[in-house]
Amino acid sequence: MKLLLKTLVVLLVLVLAGGAFVWSGAYDIGADAPHWTLTERLLDALRERSIERRAEDVQVPSNLDDPALLAEGAEHYDAMCTGCHLAPGMDETEIRAGLYPQPPKLAEGSMGDPREAFWAIKHGVKLTAMPAWGKTHDDAKIWAMVAFLRKLPSLTPEQYRQITGNAGEGDAHEHHDGHEEAAPPADHDHDAHDGAGHDHAAPAATAGAPAAEAAVQAFHEALQRGDREAALARLAEDVQIAEGGSLQRSRAAYAAAHLGDDMAFLQAAQVRLLSRHSALDGDRAWVASEMETRAQWQGKPIALRGSETVLLRQGGSGWTIAAIHWAAAPLASP
Ligand code: HEC
Repeated sequence: MKLLLKTLVVLLVLVLAGGAFVWSGAYDIGADAPHWTLTERLLDALRERSIERRAEDVQVPSNLDDPALLAEGAEHYDAMCTGCHLAPGMDETEIRAGLYPQPPKLAEGSMGDPREAFWAIKHGVKLTAMPAWGKTHDDAKIWAMVAFLRKLPSLTPEQYRQITGNAGEGDAHEHHDGHEEAAPPADHDHDAHDGAGHDHAAPAATAGAPAAEAAVQAFHEALQRGDREAALARLAEDVQIAEGGSLQRSRAAYAAAHLGDDMAFLQAAQVRLLSRHSALDGDRAWVASEMETRAQWQGKPIALRGSETVLLRQGGSGWTIAAIHWAAAPLASP
């Protein structure tokens, strides 16, 4: 009984002392006053364990490598995250300098467990500046960002700019002329906004056009799923499709003629991509691929070596396919 009483008194004193400390205003809440080492370690451990625990039950979707998802995530990341987390080729921002704790540079070092990244993006992190994006974004959009974060550390500034389709701040800083902010987009010789001004001296055959590749990949996947709507949505109305020695001169013509056969064939086939490269020139891009296709078709095994050249245009709704040329020949040894 005596022990209990003593314990209660000690507890009461502690609570009062704590209250007095809070009330006195002695604690420096400023973001520019660092924690004691011990407090910092405790908070780190608290955050890590809390996120680990909570992320355990998160189910990782299987499509994180889907280029269309990556492209969507890239757009979100570029629009919402770079101020705090930066991007390849981007200089420090003013907001970062004043943040405590410092947001990690997500383009440096690996992201770690995708479930934990998903959880942190969705719910945010208390007592830091990391917002809960789940208040305004559904899970699919958050997974798109996670998919992109996995890729981010491997991107060069140039690739980052292309995949985000945006001359972001990272870009502006490359023109060290002190007038970046004032320069109209058309003065930049590479991005998507300058469709009107095709006055480049030399069309830049740049490192590639990941967003255009993503559109081609999404088209293929739609064909392979047998998803007519999604496949047609990737094609321009005046698309030109050359295959099997004939030319189809519009989306409607393709929809009426070969689309059905192509989908049926691809659904029965295994396609292995052998190579793919691309280049960007203003609001145009081309994507060239080689593939090997094997199928059991009308009772016979088929093995083809094929190539594909796709021309794309960038418009309001992203990259659409303006022309496709397919060529295939039987493989020597099926
Ligand atoms: C206002 C600044 C700010 C913005 C904007 C912001 N974050 Fe953060 N983020 C932070 C801070 C600060 C942390 C570090 C939290 C910590 O250290 O506990 C963080 C942590 C993270 C982490 C966890 C990293 C780790 O090592 O555990 C991920 C993932 C993340 N942010 C992704 C994003 C994404 C994606 C966006 C855009 C949708 C975004 N953040 C926007 C400030 C921000």
